[in-house]
Amino acid sequence: MKLAVVQTNPTFGEKSKNIAEALQLMQSTQADLYVLPELFATGYNFATVEEVQHLAEPFRTGVTFKELEQFAHEQRSYVVYGFAEKSNGKLYNSAGIIGHDGTVGLYRKIHLFDREKLFFAPGDKPFQVFDTPHGKVGIMVCFDWYFPESARTLALKGAQLIAHPSNLVLPNCPNSMPTRCLENRVFAATANRIGTENRGVAPLTYIGQSQITSPRGEILHRAPADKPEIAVKDVDLTVTDNKNVTPRNHLLDDRRPEFYA
Ligand code: ACM
Repeated sequence: MKLAVVQTNPTFGEKSKNIAEALQLMQSTQADLYVLPELFATGYNFATVEEVQHLAEPFRTGVTFKELEQFAHEQRSYVVYGFAEKSNGKLYNSAGIIGHDGTVGLYRKIHLFDREKLFFAPGDKPFQVFDTPHGKVGIMVCFDWYFPESARTLALKGAQLIAHPSNLVLPNCPNSMPTRCLENRVFAATANRIGTENRGVAPLTYIGQSQITSPRGEILHRAPADKPEIAVKDVDLTVTDNKNVTPRNHLLDDRRPEFYA
């Protein structure tokens, strides 16, 4: 399959501009699955909960969903993207998957980072894996990578690829994803943003370096730290099905959960 990571530079609060710029990058390059950053349409560095309420949207009826759904249908592709979700009076830092075949799925970030805890409710749904004709796609969002249980859970549920919308501000994720991929033998597509958001609260600078990582821990592509771009790699997700490290060692079957509590 052709797997794309889309690195953008959103302007805080300018949803239609941010969506249009992401779509322009995506339209420039054909892929089977596009992964966009966390909160790519709204921006990330909220100052107040009122701002989140104003910019958040319901999943299936929101403008971000509608625009990406149309794109997925036109390009016969899949899209995974991060968005601010409003549901039953709660706000979540969520990610959606939309496919041209009618696939629709939702993940709500389980491990909230720093000030996100002021604005969002923690995810209340299990990690999920979605079936596509290209393979099984699991979703985690940004800081979830810091908890090895996230990628492990997705691998145990059969994920061959982890789609990883992100707004990374700490430096460690790009060099750590090879370990996450190696220990679970999965691909990962980490889509990050660039730029600085200085909004009267602690300013944040995002590190870019969106990355496609192989099940052997190879960095197949790393984007620059400071430029928007779209990068596409041809990957065969079926290679993740062989979990043997040696003929006698299986990454998942050799686990000893009775000793992990
Ligand atoms: C993060 O989880 N956005 C750092």
